[in-house]
Amino acid sequence: QLADESVGMGELLISPLRLEPHPSLPLPADLFGKHPGSRANSTGLDLTVAAMRDPLLAALQTAPVPVVPEFDVKNIPGAYAACASSYQKWSKVPVEERAATLRRAADALQTAMPQFCALLVKEAFKTWGDAVSEVREAVDFLRYYADEAQRIMQPIACPVVANAQAGYQYGVTGETNTLRLTARGVWVCISPWNFPLAIFMGQVAAALATGNTVMAKPAEQTPGVAKAAVDLMVAAGVPADALQLLHGAGETVGAALVAQPGVAGVVFTGSTQVAKIIQRALAAKDGPIVPLIAETGGINAMLVDSSALPEQVVDAVVMSAFRSAGQRCSALRLLVVHSAIADGVIEMLQGAAQELQVGNPADLTTDLGPVIDREAFDNIQRHITRLKNESKVLVGAGAATRFAQVKEEPATRAGDTEQNALSRPLIANLIAPHAFEVESIAQVKAEIFGPVLQVVRWDGNPEDVIAQINALGYGLTLGIQTRIDSRAQALAAQAHVGNIYINRNMIGAVVGVQPFGGEGLSGTGPKAGGPHYLYRFCAEQTVTVNT
Ligand code: SER
Repeated sequence: QLADESVGMGELLISPLRLEPHPSLPLPADLFGKHPGSRANSTGLDLTVAAMRDPLLAALQTAPVPVVPEFDVKNIPGAYAACASSYQKWSKVPVEERAATLRRAADALQTAMPQFCALLVKEAFKTWGDAVSEVREAVDFLRYYADEAQRIMQPIACPVVANAQAGYQYGVTGETNTLRLTARGVWVCISPWNFPLAIFMGQVAAALATGNTVMAKPAEQTPGVAKAAVDLMVAAGVPADALQLLHGAGETVGAALVAQPGVAGVVFTGSTQVAKIIQRALAAKDGPIVPLIAETGGINAMLVDSSALPEQVVDAVVMSAFRSAGQRCSALRLLVVHSAIADGVIEMLQGAAQELQVGNPADLTTDLGPVIDREAFDNIQRHITRLKNESKVLVGAGAATRFAQVKEEPATRAGDTEQNALSRPLIANLIAPHAFEVESIAQVKAEIFGPVLQVVRWDGNPEDVIAQINALGYGLTLGIQTRIDSRAQALAAQAHVGNIYINRNMIGAVVGVQPFGGEGLSGTGPKAGGPHYLYRFCAEQTVTVNT
């Protein structure tokens, strides 16, 4: 018996049950084991943290975080000149050879997985599960773009097209026409701290595979991971001038890179606000129209109807809202749950959230590590304080006191040596999972980039709920939990959202099989890890020969 009256009885229970037991929150190894990426990666290895435990813990002791000096903006024109000169050679290397270089880098990264995981734990405060998942994704990006570049960069013959049935034809005889893709030039790649390896590698690999050269500016919080990635790619055969690393702040190095004359394209992952600043800066430049690929944030929602399985919902919510301390652009921010099952779902969520271990990311049992830095911590805390005043606290009041005992130290970087980078404190800036019940979807205005969930109850038509979610203007990820297949499909079709997950969690898109990226305030497309991505890095050339 469903309390949701808009459901006709004939529509019920079409999906097979995919209920997974939810006794309490699983340990990280189990969480990762349930992560679809672990079953769908290109490495063929058992990538559970449990299987990799010993090499991971050994790497933690031995792999120092590279120290990267800030790049002086005065040297950007010189770096550009070297990168542009390198483009003349790299773009003429056959695509098969460029692809082979990226595949060698992928193999090397797979071999060095424990060391890169340790860097991610130490510099980005990732849990082991998240670190392994991220290295796997970076390996996948290298291989996928190598394969894709080889696929799409073959010249296409364009013969006369005849539609005999409809009685018309395009083209004339006596000519041969060929369409081919060419590299554009020097790309600026600006990547975020939340995936300092996978997104960095993905952007860079896409540009290089298609014959472009790269000036890469990693997030200022995570230059060490980027440096290790660049060293690995150069060792695999990417010419050093073709991949320049420029560490520094967005306002200085990032802005100067975008303003540099001659830049052929910009790929950016980060906030919507910065994407718009870049777009305006590019539009204001003299010279050619410069393409921008922007992948930004989202106020990602999950719609739960009254036919949904509460255990499955709570499992997906905990993974999507709190894993990675909520620092994924795909993370769940807004749970919209039918009032008939809301109390039960909330109660179960409170129990599951209490089980989460927040602490040192290097501990194998930690579920949530720290947020990236003090600025992020302060910003999230401001939202938590606001929500405590404006709404009903569902999760968080007790959790806050559990961490009062944890001694917090700032994770400093200025003047780091390799030695003290090894012992950098990993337990600063911890934030417990929080959930708040708010009155309406329209009230949720900001993306809070941390483990903070807002919950709204709904009644009436699910189509109205999707319309309200669309009205927020973002469009990155959406979860739908229902056992009515026709409803799931209809709501998915109505949503202006890039990645829709039905009856599962909504994070961890897998390269090649779940192309990732949004629309509206969430980005420009094309989707990373998808078959259309590389086209944007290329120009198209049609050659017509009079025969
Ligand atoms: N690609 C990542 C994910 O799907 C981005 O946040 O979770």
